[in-house]
Amino acid sequence: MSGSKKSSPPRWAKVTMFSGKGGVGKTTCAAATALHYASHGQSTLALSTDATPSLSHIFELPGEEKPKKVNESLYINELGEAEVARMWDDKFGRDVYDVFATFVDVDYQQFVDFTTSVLPGLRDEFMVDYIRELSLKNNYENIIWDTAPLGQTLALLNTPGMLVEHLKMAPRIYTRLKLSRVNKEPILNIINRWRKLSSEEINFLRNNVRFVLVTIPEALAVEQLDSVFLQLERHGLIVDQLIVNNVIKADGSEFLKAKARLQKKYLDFIHKRYQDIEITEVPMFPYELKGWDRLKEVERILFPNSTKAGC
Ligand SMILES: Nc1ncnc2c1ncn2[C@@H]1O[C@H](COP(=O)(O)OP(=O)(O)OP(=O)(O)O)[C@@H](O)[C@H]1O
Ligand SMILES: [Mg+2]
Repeated sequence: MSGSKKSSPPRWAKVTMFSGKGGVGKTTCAAATALHYASHGQSTLALSTDATPSLSHIFELPGEEKPKKVNESLYINELGEAEVARMWDDKFGRDVYDVFATFVDVDYQQFVDFTTSVLPGLRDEFMVDYIRELSLKNNYENIIWDTAPLGQTLALLNTPGMLVEHLKMAPRIYTRLKLSRVNKEPILNIINRWRKLSSEEINFLRNNVRFVLVTIPEALAVEQLDSVFLQLERHGLIVDQLIVNNVIKADGSEFLKAKARLQKKYLDFIHKRYQDIEITEVPMFPYELKGWDRLKEVERILFPNSTKAGC
């Protein structure tokens, strides 16, 4: 029958976000996971939103092109400060400026410099929006999202929810402003559009992103876990997998045995306390994890039962 074509629901890329404290192995695990999916023929993007990214370094890929092609199935992209500022400017800059310029007489470039340096939260908003759009474009089956250390990432995850709350107030305050010469309607439309966008971003984070938290078996990292889980849960974000990296397998050396004993205390604690979550231990390797062959070793640990078909 012509004319009765049903529109099929959008197909989202599978998004997996790796987060955790600085230096615990987020990028290494993200890179090994991206390599895994790509090795199974699934088109995959490893994407870093860390202002000081290291994916290219880990894959040993020099050059400046973005995204970089690793092979037919695997691409990497690193969004540095400059790209994010530019993309934010392209997508949201004019809107925010239009609202702002009704109160303050300021020129556009000055305004962009001000907002992107003073209000980093607005950029975080952009980041979630960017990945949401990317996951809808059908360019990739998997997006492996490597993030900045936890503090920054929690701020990023907080931003859409915070904006929804703040923007609830915005129309009321705005309509009360004594801006007699200004037509308030377009601005109210912008505010409503932002609210809708922020809600969509929260839904995206809740429903379409798999959260993997990376940690190490040491006091400070383990003590922070509860608070991280709580902060994520506040936004309805659930951790799907906990990777405990740098686990020392003791050999003959007294030094390593002592380190392993110390770690055992924290490993036991983690397994008992977070028993409802998938936990994967990754050993500490005696060499740097750089390049395809080394990442393959990490992949084998992260995906021990992998088959070609089932991934
Ligand atoms: N299991 C491991 N065994 C040995 N070295 C490791 C292991 N995991 C990570 N490393 C090394 O530790 C360093 C930090 O790892 P990585 O860059 O993945 O951490 P990160 O959490 O992404 O750091 P940042 O917070 O700076 O982004 C790298 O040099 C990496 O090769
Ligand atoms: Mg990293």
